[in-house]
Amino acid sequence: MKLVGRIHSRCGACLRSPCHHGPQSGAAGAMVGPSMVNMTGDDSGIMAEYTTIAEVGSIAEGKSAVFKVQGRMIAVFNVGGQYHAIDDFCPHMGASLAEGHVEEDTVTCPWHAWRFRVTDGTWCDNPRIKIDAFPVRLEGNQIQVLVEEKPPLP
Ligand code: FES
Repeated sequence: MKLVGRIHSRCGACLRSPCHHGPQSGAAGAMVGPSMVNMTGDDSGIMAEYTTIAEVGSIAEGKSAVFKVQGRMIAVFNVGGQYHAIDDFCPHMGASLAEGHVEEDTVTCPWHAWRFRVTDGTWCDNPRIKIDAFPVRLEGNQIQVLVEEKPPLP
């Protein structure tokens, strides 16, 4: 991944530093992250930035929470003190995976019991299929996730 500077995540158009659009909002009062990352390593223009979503310790071990980041609902799980982030939207019928039962590294959807690995989004019953998983890092006392900006509509 290549660091390419700072950009505002809401409009995707601001290259000023600091951004003139004010702080970014999110489920946990998220702040703008310190860097932008070219997710693809090419010139596709698909960019992402780490976004602070919560403080360390705010998600109890074995529990989860959901956050809106880059217009997407992201389920964040605490498994043995490690944080993992996957798409909150179950691909079967859209239940919130953050509301599922977590056991070891697997979450079971609360509606029809499809199971997904929280570490990489793999559907346990058909490992060829995955939902999106997102990098997570800790910056001091902050939990941050890297979520790709959606490309503009054609
Ligand atoms: S909505 Fe998740 S298994 Fe049906």
